[in-house]
Amino acid sequence: MINTSRRSFLKGAGALAAAGATGIVPMSLVTVEQANAADTFSFAWITDAHIQQIKGTKFVSNWDNGFKRAVSELANMNPKPDFCYYGGDLAQQGIPAELDHGMEMYSKAGVPMKAINGEHDYFLDMGAASRKIYGIPADNYSFDHKGVHFVALTTIRASEEWEAKWAKDPHGRMVMMERLDNPAGSPFRLGKEGLAWLKSDLDKADKNTPVIVFSHSPIQKIFAGWNFWTEDAEEIQALLQPFKRSTVLYNHVHQPQANQIGNIAFLSNFSTAWPWPYPTTYTQAPNALPTLILPMNRSDIANQRDATGWVFVNTNGGDKFEASINGFDNPARKVTWDGKFQDAGYTAGAAAQHY
Ligand SMILES: [Fe+2]
Repeated sequence: MINTSRRSFLKGAGALAAAGATGIVPMSLVTVEQANAADTFSFAWITDAHIQQIKGTKFVSNWDNGFKRAVSELANMNPKPDFCYYGGDLAQQGIPAELDHGMEMYSKAGVPMKAINGEHDYFLDMGAASRKIYGIPADNYSFDHKGVHFVALTTIRASEEWEAKWAKDPHGRMVMMERLDNPAGSPFRLGKEGLAWLKSDLDKADKNTPVIVFSHSPIQKIFAGWNFWTEDAEEIQALLQPFKRSTVLYNHVHQPQANQIGNIAFLSNFSTAWPWPYPTTYTQAPNALPTLILPMNRSDIANQRDATGWVFVNTNGGDKFEASINGFDNPARKVTWDGKFQDAGYTAGAAAQHY
């Protein structure tokens, strides 16, 4: 679970203890505490279910099971969070049958969903099915909720040249982009149109308004080889920096990561399906992992729920940061940032040793 709170905007300990009692679930909870207690609210965060059709009504059961478990935790919450942020890659191959099956399972939650596109949802038909099935108004949209400005982005677009080149081969385009380490794919980006939309959206917002950004890609440059990367990250960050506090909640990396750049806090989440190892364990491509990475043991492919779990994060708009990470078969970790990043459990090179 992820519990993002802010100080004027923050409480966390109570929710943390309460949620801790529920055990390890591949679902996150974000609590946004505000100065005015009546405005305090929470939302769930579930991502990267990768529902995969084998044939007809047969789907990969492991991915179904991880997602069902998260949905059932959400369904049993009392009180229910205001909505659920779904971070993309509900489908594996972008086909409507996978998206439909995922949403059918999700419907048991009884909580409205605010979704964004992942590359697996998108490249078969450039988001036509996912926008419809997720029920989102556009690739990029925003909404205000109890004093917080939420921005939901499609940050997995390919370059214009690449998209033009593959325009006539939707299946080939999907295959190119769905593979994690395909050099024939394209680096992710929000793209020119998306940047223009974001600028005009943020221009209208008061710079003291807390901003929470939903993005599939990290909006920072971590590891190009696996698209743990956003090509126009600097331009997006420049639009967010004028805000007193902003938080990017990103997905795609299938592991908790934390970073802070200026006024922007970056947090990622577990997948409900499977963990990716740390790119530092691979030597075939250069990487630029931020120093605020959170190593953990991984990954035992015989263990269905290895390196999935939950995280609580309390942020104070980038002034302070505290993450409590609880994954299967991993020691519980506590990470804090207060002008300086601290992780008592961190050992340099630990990720490489563990994998
Ligand atoms: Fe992804």
